[in-house]
Amino acid sequence: MSHADSIRFIVQPGGSLKGRIRVPGDKSISHRSIMLGSLAEGTTEVSGFLQGEDCLCTLNAFRAMGVSIEGPTADGRVVIHGVGLHGLRAPVHDLDMGNSGTSMRLMAGLMSGQAFDVRMNGDGSLSKRPMKRVTVPLADMGARIETTAAGTPPLMVRGGSTLHGMHYDMPVASAQVKSALLLAGLYAEGETSVTEPAPTRDHTERMLRGFGYPVQTDGRRISLKGGGRLGAMAIDVPSDISSAAFFMVGASIAPGSELVIEHVGMNPTRTGVIEILRLMGADLEIQNPREVGGEPVADIRVRAARLKGIRIPEALVPLAIDEFPVLFVAAACADGETVLTGAEELRVKESDRIQVMVDGLAACGIDARPTPDGIVIQGGPLSGATVTSHNDHRIAMAFSIAGLRAAVPMTIDDCATVNTSFPGFVALAAGAGLAIREQRTVQG
Ligand code: S3P
Repeated sequence: MSHADSIRFIVQPGGSLKGRIRVPGDKSISHRSIMLGSLAEGTTEVSGFLQGEDCLCTLNAFRAMGVSIEGPTADGRVVIHGVGLHGLRAPVHDLDMGNSGTSMRLMAGLMSGQAFDVRMNGDGSLSKRPMKRVTVPLADMGARIETTAAGTPPLMVRGGSTLHGMHYDMPVASAQVKSALLLAGLYAEGETSVTEPAPTRDHTERMLRGFGYPVQTDGRRISLKGGGRLGAMAIDVPSDISSAAFFMVGASIAPGSELVIEHVGMNPTRTGVIEILRLMGADLEIQNPREVGGEPVADIRVRAARLKGIRIPEALVPLAIDEFPVLFVAAACADGETVLTGAEELRVKESDRIQVMVDGLAACGIDARPTPDGIVIQGGPLSGATVTSHNDHRIAMAFSIAGLRAAVPMTIDDCATVNTSFPGFVALAAGAGLAIREQRTVQG
């Protein structure tokens, strides 16, 4: 599948979601499994790896730097023959990070510690996303990274820099910034520490510890010392709660639904969507909680419920940062007004998720108003419409879910990027009861 193909989703209105489903592996954990597995000494076996295009960009980047990686097999097994922290080789070509902000930003940190130069490119969306949030603090550590004048990709990371540890007070609550600095810190002299303005996903810290690398967490301050080593480990990637979120909302808003989503990652830095939906009145039951490879996992049973509009607590924003497109659909289907503030980060995701959702919801007859740092949505009847995802995977899937409550069919254009995070979305959603089909136009 190439992005030269244009993909349109067409969703017939109505239906309900039923049965038991398992969504693909967690994107954040899958990226990190390749990065740390490659830098470990020994063999790392990964199961449940997300075979989305974003994570495959990370995998291909490490292959291009001389790491032998087997798989992924159809069932998501990957075997990484780690080369150690200093075993990467200069790639012959630029590294293509596709649509993936996580790859580009985390790799900016890792590449800063290498002996060779690396140039990293991205697609149209990634090429517009801000990189200074990582390149500026990394430069303070001694890294040499060139961006465009606008601070966007491509990134040219110069090798052979001497990195020194430092403390960074992060202005934005971003796991990508935190992770970029900690990964550069592996190569730095002395201690690297960051303070987060609010807790963000902590998969980097957890996985580093799993690989035997000491990382200290003291409230919002996270630190590590350079010069250590990573041992190898087995990683069982849980299902991505960000992908499960589409089905949590879908089963909540579609009358008659009862759905169990299995083996979902329940890391407390990721469960904001559950808290927000519960505040809205959703019927979510956490079943069978367990721990798998250092990450909490559970099955989530969702039953249809009458949702109400709420003021979303700002503290939950970083803990649900990727789930807002579909949460806005929940708000459109709720009684009353939903207000989101403190979420200006949504404007610099794969698209401007505030404006793009406002435009799409408005096309569906919903009163949705953008604010500089959020949105105000009045719940109401949803008519179907033709909307564009602006090549943003989560917008495409959010409007597909809206079809469950639309009066006439929903048509969503530019859905090819769904494969970046959720390969098989259409088949899985159709199997659960969403009347969705895909129309593909081969271009060129
Ligand atoms: C991610 C962090 C988040 C999230 C992204 C994945 C990660 O980005 O939106 O999808 O894996 O670290 P920010 O750190 O920019 O909020």
